[in-house]
Amino acid sequence: VAKIEIPLDGVPEGKNVVFEWRGKPVFVRHRTPEEIMREQGVDVSQLRHQQADGDRVKKPEWLIVIGICTHLGCIPVANAGDFGGYYCPCHGSHYDASGRVRKGPAPLNLEVPEYKFKDENTIVIG
Ligand code: FES
Repeated sequence: VAKIEIPLDGVPEGKNVVFEWRGKPVFVRHRTPEEIMREQGVDVSQLRHQQADGDRVKKPEWLIVIGICTHLGCIPVANAGDFGGYYCPCHGSHYDASGRVRKGPAPLNLEVPEYKFKDENTIVIG
């Protein structure tokens, strides 16, 4: 399927739900106010892959990323690791709640796929 629609009302605040798109896991994370504040406050110059949180999300509450570790392709675990986002158990990469790599061997942030908001409660990926 080239495009998928995801209803966001099935993803409660604080949760990360995994969908499948083109054979890949897509993480849809409903971020808490604390997570949003924390990620917006990160000093981008300290990051390995320097991206501001605001350039990775269309709405602060919603993080949409491909759930594939940029090191060697394992699927990271949500709400784990030292930075409150994701942890890849294969070789120990830690990602924050913006999907940015913060520690470990991964070279890049989790990829943000093409998507758009169809309405308040629905995104279309692809
Ligand atoms: Fe994720 Fe190596 S595949 S750390």
